[in-house]
Amino acid sequence: MQSRLAALADRNQHVAPFQTMELVKQAQALEMQGRSVIHMSIGEPDFTAPEPVVRAMQQALKAGRSQYTAALGLHGLREAVAAHYALTEGLDVDPDCIIITAGASAALTLACLALVNPGDEVLLTDPSYPCNRHFVAAAGGVPQTVSVDATSRFQLNAGLIASHWSTATRGVLLASPANPTGTSMRWSDVCESITAVQSRGGFVIMDEIYQGLRYGDASAGIPATPHSALHASGDLVICNSFSKTFHMTGWRLGWLVVPRPWVPAFEKLQQNLFICASALAQQAALGCFTEESQAIIAERKAQFQARRDCIVPGLRRIGFDIPLIPDGAFYVWANIKAFGMESSLFTRRMLQETGVSIVPGADFGRTQAQDWVRFSYARPLAVIEEALDRIQSWLA
Ligand SMILES: Cc1ncc(COP(=O)(O)O)c(C=O)c1O
Repeated sequence: MQSRLAALADRNQHVAPFQTMELVKQAQALEMQGRSVIHMSIGEPDFTAPEPVVRAMQQALKAGRSQYTAALGLHGLREAVAAHYALTEGLDVDPDCIIITAGASAALTLACLALVNPGDEVLLTDPSYPCNRHFVAAAGGVPQTVSVDATSRFQLNAGLIASHWSTATRGVLLASPANPTGTSMRWSDVCESITAVQSRGGFVIMDEIYQGLRYGDASAGIPATPHSALHASGDLVICNSFSKTFHMTGWRLGWLVVPRPWVPAFEKLQQNLFICASALAQQAALGCFTEESQAIIAERKAQFQARRDCIVPGLRRIGFDIPLIPDGAFYVWANIKAFGMESSLFTRRMLQETGVSIVPGADFGRTQAQDWVRFSYARPLAVIEEALDRIQSWLA
Protein backbone atom coordinates (compact mmCIF):
# COMPACT_ATOMS: atom_id res chain seq x y z
CA MET A 1 0.00 0.00 0.00
CA GLN A 2 1.28 3.45 -0.85
CA SER A 3 1.99 5.48 2.27
CA ARG A 4 0.58 8.97 2.64
CA LEU A 5 2.25 11.75 4.57
CA ALA A 6 0.20 12.64 7.67
CA ALA A 7 -1.37 16.09 7.95
CA LEU A 8 0.48 18.65 10.04
CA ALA A 9 -1.22 19.90 13.18
CA ASP A 10 -3.62 22.85 12.82
CA ARG A 11 -1.47 25.08 15.00
CA ASN A 12 1.02 25.42 12.14
CA GLN A 13 -1.46 27.64 10.34
CA HIS A 14 -1.28 30.14 13.17
CA VAL A 15 2.50 30.42 13.25
CA ALA A 16 3.57 33.29 11.04
CA PRO A 17 7.05 33.00 9.54
CA PHE A 18 9.66 35.01 11.44
CA GLN A 19 10.10 37.59 8.64
CA THR A 20 13.47 38.73 9.93
CA MET A 21 14.86 35.26 9.26
CA GLU A 22 13.16 35.19 5.84
CA LEU A 23 14.73 38.56 5.00
CA VAL A 24 18.13 37.31 6.02
CA LYS A 25 17.65 34.44 3.58
CA GLN A 26 16.77 36.89 0.75
CA ALA A 27 19.75 39.10 1.61
CA GLN A 28 22.05 36.07 1.58
CA ALA A 29 20.66 35.03 -1.80
CA LEU A 30 21.54 38.48 -3.20
CA GLU A 31 25.03 38.14 -1.76
CA MET A 32 25.40 34.79 -3.50
CA GLN A 33 24.73 36.66 -6.76
CA GLY A 34 27.69 38.90 -5.96
CA ARG A 35 25.75 41.93 -4.61
CA SER A 36 27.14 43.93 -1.70
CA VAL A 37 24.61 43.63 1.12
CA ILE A 38 24.59 45.53 4.41
CA HIS A 39 22.79 43.40 6.97
CA MET A 40 20.79 45.56 9.37
CA SER A 41 17.90 43.15 9.80
CA ILE A 42 18.95 40.45 12.21
CA GLY A 43 19.13 41.31 15.91
CA GLU A 44 22.57 39.94 16.57
CA PRO A 45 25.82 41.56 17.76
CA ASP A 46 28.56 41.62 15.13
CA PHE A 47 31.00 40.71 17.93
CA THR A 48 31.58 37.13 18.97
CA ALA A 49 32.12 35.67 22.44
CA PRO A 50 34.95 37.30 24.44
CA GLU A 51 38.29 35.46 24.37
CA PRO A 52 38.06 34.10 27.97
CA VAL A 53 34.78 32.43 27.00
CA VAL A 54 36.38 30.80 23.98
CA ARG A 55 39.29 29.61 26.14
CA ALA A 56 36.89 28.20 28.75
CA MET A 57 35.06 26.34 25.97
CA GLN A 58 38.31 24.87 24.63
CA GLN A 59 39.29 23.69 28.11
CA ALA A 60 35.88 22.14 28.75
CA LEU A 61 35.99 20.39 25.40
CA LYS A 62 39.48 19.03 26.02
CA ALA A 63 38.51 17.83 29.47
CA GLY A 64 35.38 16.16 28.05
CA ARG A 65 32.99 18.04 30.32
CA SER A 66 30.17 17.47 27.89
CA GLN A 67 27.75 15.28 29.83
CA TYR A 68 24.27 16.49 30.83
CA THR A 69 24.31 18.93 33.72
CA ALA A 70 21.64 19.23 36.41
CA ALA A 71 18.37 20.44 34.87
CA LEU A 72 18.62 23.78 36.66
CA GLY A 73 22.16 24.26 35.36
CA LEU A 74 25.72 24.12 36.69
CA HIS A 75 25.67 25.35 40.24
CA GLY A 76 28.87 27.33 39.63
CA LEU A 77 27.21 29.22 36.77
CA ARG A 78 24.06 29.94 38.80
CA GLU A 79 26.32 31.33 41.53
CA ALA A 80 28.24 33.38 38.97
CA VAL A 81 25.00 34.90 37.64
CA ALA A 82 23.91 35.73 41.20
CA ALA A 83 27.30 37.34 41.89
CA HIS A 84 26.90 39.36 38.66
CA TYR A 85 23.58 40.77 39.94
CA ALA A 86 25.30 41.67 43.23
CA LEU A 87 28.19 43.37 41.46
CA THR A 88 26.31 45.25 38.75
CA GLU A 89 23.08 46.08 40.58
CA GLY A 90 23.67 45.48 44.27
CA LEU A 91 20.92 42.85 44.13
CA ASP A 92 20.88 39.83 46.42
CA VAL A 93 19.61 37.01 44.18
CA ASP A 94 19.49 33.46 45.56
CA PRO A 95 21.43 31.17 43.14
CA ASP A 96 18.81 28.49 43.87
CA CYS A 97 16.23 30.70 42.12
CA ILE A 98 18.34 30.96 38.95
CA ILE A 99 17.68 28.45 36.17
CA ILE A 100 20.06 28.14 33.24
CA THR A 101 18.19 27.73 29.95
CA ALA A 102 18.81 27.26 26.24
CA GLY A 103 18.65 31.02 25.57
CA ALA A 104 15.90 33.44 26.43
CA SER A 105 13.76 31.52 23.94
CA ALA A 106 13.71 28.42 26.14
CA ALA A 107 13.37 30.64 29.23
CA LEU A 108 10.22 32.27 27.82
CA THR A 109 8.87 28.90 26.69
CA LEU A 110 9.32 27.47 30.19
CA ALA A 111 7.79 30.55 31.80
CA CYS A 112 4.69 30.40 29.59
CA LEU A 113 4.26 26.65 30.06
CA ALA A 114 4.61 27.04 33.83
CA LEU A 115 2.16 29.93 34.17
CA VAL A 116 -0.38 29.92 31.34
CA ASN A 117 -3.46 27.69 31.22
CA PRO A 118 -5.25 27.02 27.93
CA GLY A 119 -7.46 30.02 27.17
CA ASP A 120 -5.61 32.38 29.50
CA GLU A 121 -4.94 35.79 28.04
CA VAL A 122 -1.51 37.40 28.33
CA LEU A 123 -0.98 41.09 27.60
CA LEU A 124 1.88 42.04 25.26
CA THR A 125 2.79 45.25 23.50
CA ASP A 126 2.19 45.79 19.80
CA PRO A 127 4.93 46.16 18.56
CA SER A 128 6.93 43.48 20.36
CA TYR A 129 9.39 40.65 19.78
CA PRO A 130 7.49 38.44 17.29
CA CYS A 131 8.18 35.11 19.00
CA ASN A 132 6.46 36.25 22.22
CA ARG A 133 3.04 35.61 20.69
CA HIS A 134 4.09 32.05 19.91
CA PHE A 135 5.51 31.32 23.36
CA VAL A 136 2.11 32.23 24.82
CA ALA A 137 0.21 30.30 22.14
CA ALA A 138 2.42 27.22 22.61
CA ALA A 139 1.08 27.03 26.16
CA GLY A 140 -2.49 27.27 24.83
CA GLY A 141 -2.73 30.90 25.92
CA VAL A 142 -4.12 33.81 23.95
CA PRO A 143 -1.69 36.67 23.29
CA GLN A 144 -3.59 39.95 23.70
CA THR A 145 -1.62 42.69 22.05
CA VAL A 146 -2.01 46.28 23.22
CA SER A 147 -1.16 48.96 20.70
CA VAL A 148 1.44 51.28 22.21
CA ASP A 149 3.13 54.42 20.94
CA ALA A 150 5.78 56.93 21.86
CA THR A 151 3.66 58.44 24.64
CA SER A 152 4.27 55.32 26.77
CA ARG A 153 7.77 54.75 25.32
CA PHE A 154 6.17 51.89 23.27
CA GLN A 155 5.65 50.07 26.57
CA LEU A 156 2.74 48.99 28.74
CA ASN A 157 1.99 51.02 31.86
CA ALA A 158 -0.48 50.67 34.74
CA GLY A 159 -3.21 52.57 32.87
CA LEU A 160 -2.95 50.40 29.75
CA ILE A 161 -2.86 47.24 31.87
CA ALA A 162 -6.00 48.32 33.75
CA SER A 163 -7.90 49.17 30.57
CA HIS A 164 -7.01 45.93 28.78
CA TRP A 165 -7.32 43.51 31.72
CA SER A 166 -10.24 41.10 31.23
CA THR A 167 -11.62 38.26 33.32
CA ALA A 168 -9.51 35.91 31.20
CA THR A 169 -6.23 37.83 31.66
CA ARG A 170 -3.63 35.96 33.71
CA GLY A 171 -0.54 38.09 33.29
CA VAL A 172 1.76 40.27 31.22
CA LEU A 173 4.94 39.69 29.26
CA LEU A 174 7.07 42.84 29.32
CA ALA A 175 10.51 43.60 27.93
CA SER A 176 12.76 46.48 28.90
CA PRO A 177 14.65 47.62 26.86
CA ALA A 178 12.43 46.21 24.15
CA ASN A 179 12.75 44.81 20.67
CA PRO A 180 11.99 46.38 18.10
CA THR A 181 11.94 49.85 19.68
CA GLY A 182 15.09 49.85 21.82
CA THR A 183 13.18 51.78 24.48
CA SER A 184 13.04 51.00 28.20
CA MET A 185 10.13 51.42 30.58
CA ARG A 186 10.37 54.40 32.94
CA TRP A 187 11.17 53.06 36.42
CA SER A 188 7.87 54.44 37.76
CA ASP A 189 6.06 52.47 35.02
CA VAL A 190 7.91 49.28 35.95
CA CYS A 191 6.84 49.63 39.59
CA GLU A 192 3.26 50.71 38.85
CA SER A 193 2.78 48.00 36.20
CA ILE A 194 3.95 45.29 38.58
CA THR A 195 1.55 46.57 41.24
CA ALA A 196 -1.30 46.75 38.71
CA VAL A 197 -0.75 43.12 37.68
CA GLN A 198 -0.05 41.65 41.11
CA SER A 199 -3.04 43.41 42.69
CA ARG A 200 -5.16 41.52 40.13
CA GLY A 201 -3.53 38.22 41.06
CA GLY A 202 -1.59 38.07 37.77
CA PHE A 203 1.97 37.14 36.87
CA VAL A 204 4.69 39.34 35.41
CA ILE A 205 7.26 37.91 33.04
CA MET A 206 9.94 40.54 32.48
CA ASP A 207 12.34 39.99 29.60
CA GLU A 208 15.61 41.74 30.51
CA ILE A 209 17.73 40.36 27.67
CA TYR A 210 18.90 43.90 26.76
CA GLN A 211 19.48 45.22 30.31
CA GLY A 212 23.23 44.88 29.82
CA LEU A 213 22.98 47.12 26.73
CA ARG A 214 21.48 50.31 28.13
CA TYR A 215 22.97 53.63 27.02
CA GLY A 216 20.31 55.79 28.63
CA ASP A 217 18.51 58.89 27.50
CA ALA A 218 19.15 61.71 29.92
CA SER A 219 16.42 63.88 28.36
CA ALA A 220 13.84 61.20 29.22
CA GLY A 221 15.32 60.39 32.64
CA ILE A 222 16.37 56.90 31.51
CA PRO A 223 19.66 55.76 33.11
CA ALA A 224 22.49 54.00 31.27
CA THR A 225 23.01 51.29 33.88
CA PRO A 226 21.11 48.01 34.26
CA HIS A 227 18.28 48.15 36.75
CA SER A 228 16.40 44.87 36.97
CA ALA A 229 12.71 44.81 37.83
CA LEU A 230 13.83 42.58 40.74
CA HIS A 231 14.50 45.85 42.59
CA ALA A 232 10.73 46.39 42.58
CA SER A 233 9.57 42.84 43.44
CA GLY A 234 10.96 39.34 43.89
CA ASP A 235 7.66 37.78 42.81
CA LEU A 236 8.43 37.98 39.11
CA VAL A 237 9.79 35.78 36.40
CA ILE A 238 12.90 37.46 35.01
CA CYS A 239 14.29 36.26 31.72
CA ASN A 240 17.80 37.03 30.51
CA SER A 241 20.37 35.63 28.11
CA PHE A 242 24.02 35.41 27.16
CA SER A 243 23.01 36.11 23.52
CA LYS A 244 23.11 39.89 23.34
CA THR A 245 25.12 41.39 26.21
CA PHE A 246 27.77 38.66 26.04
CA HIS A 247 27.63 38.31 22.22
CA MET A 248 26.85 34.58 22.31
CA THR A 249 23.73 34.25 20.15
CA GLY A 250 24.53 30.85 18.67
CA TRP A 251 25.66 29.36 21.96
CA ARG A 252 22.01 29.13 23.06
CA LEU A 253 22.33 30.04 26.69
CA GLY A 254 20.18 32.16 28.96
CA TRP A 255 18.66 32.19 32.40
CA LEU A 256 15.56 32.74 34.47
CA VAL A 257 15.14 34.11 37.96
CA VAL A 258 11.91 32.76 39.46
CA PRO A 259 10.24 32.96 42.88
CA ARG A 260 11.57 30.15 45.07
CA PRO A 261 8.21 28.28 45.39
CA TRP A 262 8.03 28.02 41.60
CA VAL A 263 11.49 26.48 41.09
CA PRO A 264 10.33 22.80 41.30
CA ALA A 265 7.66 23.36 38.60
CA PHE A 266 10.20 24.98 36.27
CA GLU A 267 12.69 22.22 37.05
CA LYS A 268 10.20 19.50 36.07
CA LEU A 269 9.44 21.25 32.79
CA GLN A 270 13.12 21.76 32.02
CA GLN A 271 13.88 18.08 32.81
CA ASN A 272 11.18 16.91 30.44
CA LEU A 273 11.53 19.39 27.60
CA PHE A 274 15.24 20.16 27.44
CA ILE A 275 17.00 17.99 30.10
CA CYS A 276 19.42 20.89 30.52
CA ALA A 277 21.05 23.72 28.58
CA SER A 278 24.21 22.88 26.61
CA ALA A 279 26.83 21.63 29.07
CA LEU A 280 29.74 22.99 27.05
CA ALA A 281 28.13 26.40 26.63
CA GLN A 282 27.53 26.51 30.39
CA GLN A 283 31.20 25.73 31.13
CA ALA A 284 32.26 28.39 28.65
CA ALA A 285 29.87 30.98 30.07
CA LEU A 286 31.79 30.87 33.34
CA GLY A 287 34.36 32.86 31.37
CA CYS A 288 31.87 35.76 30.97
CA PHE A 289 32.36 36.99 34.49
CA THR A 290 36.14 37.40 34.54
CA GLU A 291 37.55 40.94 34.73
CA GLU A 292 38.96 40.51 31.23
CA SER A 293 35.56 39.61 29.74
CA GLN A 294 33.78 42.36 31.61
CA ALA A 295 36.28 44.91 30.27
CA ILE A 296 35.73 43.64 26.70
CA ILE A 297 31.97 43.80 27.13
CA ALA A 298 32.09 47.33 28.54
CA GLU A 299 34.25 48.49 25.64
CA ARG A 300 31.89 46.95 23.08
CA LYS A 301 28.90 48.50 24.81
CA ALA A 302 30.56 51.89 24.32
CA GLN A 303 30.91 51.04 20.62
CA PHE A 304 27.19 50.22 20.42
CA GLN A 305 26.40 53.56 22.00
CA ALA A 306 28.62 55.38 19.47
CA ARG A 307 26.77 53.59 16.68
CA ARG A 308 23.41 54.63 18.10
CA ASP A 309 24.66 58.20 18.31
CA CYS A 310 25.59 58.00 14.63
CA ILE A 311 22.56 56.23 13.16
CA VAL A 312 19.75 58.06 14.95
CA PRO A 313 20.71 61.59 13.81
CA GLY A 314 21.75 60.15 10.43
CA LEU A 315 18.33 58.62 9.79
CA ARG A 316 16.56 61.70 11.11
CA ARG A 317 18.55 63.86 8.69
CA ILE A 318 17.41 61.68 5.77
CA GLY A 319 13.77 62.07 6.80
CA PHE A 320 12.95 59.07 9.00
CA ASP A 321 10.75 60.00 11.93
CA ILE A 322 12.25 58.59 15.16
CA PRO A 323 10.09 59.90 17.98
CA LEU A 324 12.19 58.50 20.85
CA ILE A 325 15.92 58.02 21.28
CA PRO A 326 16.35 54.25 21.64
CA ASP A 327 18.05 53.98 25.03
CA GLY A 328 19.08 50.32 24.80
CA ALA A 329 19.55 47.17 22.68
CA PHE A 330 20.77 47.89 19.11
CA TYR A 331 17.58 48.82 17.30
CA VAL A 332 16.02 51.92 15.83
CA TRP A 333 12.24 51.91 15.31
CA ALA A 334 11.65 54.43 12.56
CA ASN A 335 8.47 55.78 10.98
CA ILE A 336 8.49 55.93 7.17
CA LYS A 337 5.11 57.54 6.53
CA ALA A 338 6.84 60.56 4.98
CA PHE A 339 8.14 58.36 2.14
CA GLY A 340 4.63 57.30 1.06
CA MET A 341 5.42 53.60 0.76
CA GLU A 342 4.09 50.68 2.80
CA SER A 343 6.84 49.12 4.94
CA SER A 344 7.01 45.63 3.35
CA LEU A 345 7.41 47.17 -0.10
CA PHE A 346 9.81 49.78 1.30
CA THR A 347 12.11 47.17 2.86
CA ARG A 348 11.93 44.88 -0.19
CA ARG A 349 12.82 47.73 -2.54
CA MET A 350 15.50 49.02 -0.22
CA LEU A 351 17.15 45.61 -0.23
CA GLN A 352 16.89 45.20 -4.01
CA GLU A 353 17.89 48.75 -4.91
CA THR A 354 20.47 49.65 -2.23
CA GLY A 355 21.52 46.31 -0.77
CA VAL A 356 20.59 47.48 2.74
CA SER A 357 18.54 44.88 4.58
CA ILE A 358 16.13 46.04 7.32
CA VAL A 359 12.88 44.61 8.74
CA PRO A 360 9.31 45.81 8.03
CA GLY A 361 7.00 46.61 10.94
CA ALA A 362 4.72 43.68 10.11
CA ASP A 363 7.11 41.32 11.87
CA PHE A 364 6.41 42.97 15.22
CA GLY A 365 2.68 43.54 15.28
CA ARG A 366 -0.33 44.68 13.38
CA THR A 367 -1.36 48.18 14.26
CA GLN A 368 1.75 50.02 13.13
CA ALA A 369 3.01 47.48 10.64
CA GLN A 370 2.67 49.60 7.51
CA ASP A 371 4.41 52.75 8.63
CA TRP A 372 7.37 51.45 10.63
CA VAL A 373 10.66 49.67 10.02
CA ARG A 374 13.39 48.36 12.31
CA PHE A 375 17.09 48.96 11.80
CA SER A 376 19.58 46.81 13.72
CA TYR A 377 22.74 48.87 14.19
CA ALA A 378 24.93 46.01 15.40
CA ARG A 379 27.37 46.83 12.62
CA PRO A 380 30.70 48.71 12.54
CA LEU A 381 30.43 52.52 12.32
CA ALA A 382 31.90 52.63 8.80
CA VAL A 383 29.24 50.16 7.62
CA ILE A 384 26.48 52.21 9.23
CA GLU A 385 27.78 55.33 7.49
CA GLU A 386 27.87 53.49 4.16
CA ALA A 387 24.27 52.32 4.72
CA LEU A 388 23.16 55.89 5.48
CA ASP A 389 24.82 57.11 2.26
CA ARG A 390 23.16 54.42 0.17
CA ILE A 391 19.72 55.08 1.69
CA GLN A 392 20.07 58.84 1.27
CA SER A 393 20.97 58.52 -2.42
CA TRP A 394 18.13 56.06 -2.97
CA LEU A 395 15.50 58.24 -1.33
CA ALA A 396 16.79 61.35 -3.09
C1 LIG B 1 13.31 40.66 23.31
C2 LIG B 1 13.93 39.33 22.98
N1 LIG B 1 13.70 38.29 23.80
C3 LIG B 1 14.21 37.07 23.54
C4 LIG B 1 15.00 36.84 22.43
C5 LIG B 1 15.56 35.46 22.18
O1 LIG B 1 16.90 35.45 22.59
P1 LIG B 1 17.80 34.13 22.76
O2 LIG B 1 18.84 34.18 21.68
O3 LIG B 1 18.45 34.27 24.11
O4 LIG B 1 16.93 32.94 22.68
C6 LIG B 1 15.28 37.91 21.55
C7 LIG B 1 16.09 37.70 20.35
O5 LIG B 1 16.23 38.54 19.49
C8 LIG B 1 14.73 39.18 21.84
O6 LIG B 1 14.96 40.25 21.06
